[in-house]
Amino acid sequence: MKKVIVSVVLLGSLLQAAQYTKEDRIKDMTAMANAMGVIQSGFFYNNYETVAAGVEQLSDTVVRVKPPIEEQNEKDVMARYMNEKIQMSNKIVKKINQKALTILQRFKAGDSTQATQAYTKIMGQCMKCHREIRNW
Ligand code: HEC
Repeated sequence: MKKVIVSVVLLGSLLQAAQYTKEDRIKDMTAMANAMGVIQSGFFYNNYETVAAGVEQLSDTVVRVKPPIEEQNEKDVMARYMNEKIQMSNKIVKKINQKALTILQRFKAGDSTQATQAYTKIMGQCMKCHREIRNW
């Protein structure tokens, strides 16, 4: 019985991983907005642990972000546009990850100017995606 339950739970999480929904994306967005806030307070309180916790949360979340299943299922006319969106998302995600690492390295080295610059660049990437995918 235990094995069955474990398999059902495992299958459930596998399916969840495969099916990234709009709801998942909103959850991830909220988590990233929160992570940005944590990083910022780490800057203001000059606390490396806080910065690191925010960066970790941001990096863990941003890798999950992709067009949700609802949009992936939009067919034909949308398909090419969708592929562009996916490529763009991947690029942005990679940049956010790189800059998150820069924040950690620069802040640790006592270079808060460079650390906050990397932070601003991340914000720029968030807004770029919102502008181009969300039309905000
Ligand atoms: C790959 C594109 C993309 C990137 C990168 C991105 N976002 Fe978003 N974001 C979206 C989309 C699309 C929505 C709208 C989601 C919806 O309403 O279905 C959204 C919505 C949001 C929302 C509103 C969520 C809600 O409750 O309606 C917040 C907050 C947010 N993003 C924060 C961020 C932050 C912070 C970053 C950067 C660390 C970021 N986003 C990066 C695409 C992106």
